[in-house]
Amino acid sequence: SKGGYDHFMLKEIHEQPTAIKDTLLRRLDENGKIKLDDIKLTKEDLEKISKVYIVACGTAYNAGLVGRYAIEKFAQIPVEPDIASEFRYREPFIDQNTLLIVISQSGETLDTLAAIREAKRKGARILSVTNVVGSSVARESDDVFYTWAGPEIAVASTKAYTTQMTALYMIALDLALTKGTITEEFYFDMIEKMKELPAKVEKILENYEDIKQVAKEIKDKHSAFYLGRGLDYQTAMEGALKLKEISYIHTEAFAAGELKHGTIALIEEGTPVIAIASQERLYEKMLSNIQEVKARGAYVIAIANENRKEIEAQADRVIYVPEVDDILAPVLTAVPTQLIAYYTSLIKGNDVDKPRNLAKSVTVE
Ligand code: F6R
Repeated sequence: SKGGYDHFMLKEIHEQPTAIKDTLLRRLDENGKIKLDDIKLTKEDLEKISKVYIVACGTAYNAGLVGRYAIEKFAQIPVEPDIASEFRYREPFIDQNTLLIVISQSGETLDTLAAIREAKRKGARILSVTNVVGSSVARESDDVFYTWAGPEIAVASTKAYTTQMTALYMIALDLALTKGTITEEFYFDMIEKMKELPAKVEKILENYEDIKQVAKEIKDKHSAFYLGRGLDYQTAMEGALKLKEISYIHTEAFAAGELKHGTIALIEEGTPVIAIASQERLYEKMLSNIQEVKARGAYVIAIANENRKEIEAQADRVIYVPEVDDILAPVLTAVPTQLIAYYTSLIKGNDVDKPRNLAKSVTVE
């Protein structure tokens, strides 16, 4: 049942604090350390790994892009993310020293399964992140990390995405500690910061009135853009996917630094640009990009940290998220993008939970 919500999507958006908390806390032992019961990678196994691929489709792929940052930063292993339907046909280099991390909410996506089989045949070790116990992906993997999102019914994925990112941070921290590329102090500090995420998500959920306004402003537009740098670019990709998927507004995500290499030509008077500016490290650069699109007539909706009130002077509208480490910000910035998509779809009178032409689980090619 929808538990008092109008749609499964809204219910699932609101379940995120609990889903993130469950995914995290159920895997901490009495010493507060991450215990990955179904992951048996030893220090020796890890030392052999020279290449990591992260392979998935759609939203799960977008979570993988965030996972890449965490694994490269913490565990210092090069990671290549790829879309399953591309990976399986492009003859990627795979050997016994390859680790394939697969992400799939349903655990039944055909292209993702085919990627597993292909990589396995070539000797790779398979670690999967999935939400469904006993799913095909789980059964065919060497190691499994189950997200504790609970059943996701709405076609547009929300709580699966934020718990997938949570899982990937935990995997990255665990790999890094095992490899010795981070200190115990850093490790425990990150876990403490992750424990604060559910309350921070809760705070964003309370602020939906501003987002309803955004939905009203963009509902009749034919196109919209999401901009971001670094991890905000990954969130931009997911935000754009969500908005197209259920509002049917053509939305594109751009790496903000790429604008002047072509795409800024698309900006017209009143074009909505949702600019994500959560990365403190890249904040000044992002502000310049906001000014560039603003000068060409864009209607700018910024998603920024609540300590950055000065952004109100640059953007037409600002949606704030609580302060957090740059690396964890995607879990927070995802939430306003989900709500923007939800309310835009709702106001347009679309079937929010069952958008046209789509199925929840893609078991065909
Ligand atoms: C978008 C969405 C899809 C799925 C994709 C992969 O909101 O839900 O893009 O993320 O079809 O599905 P799973 O994770 O089940 O493999």
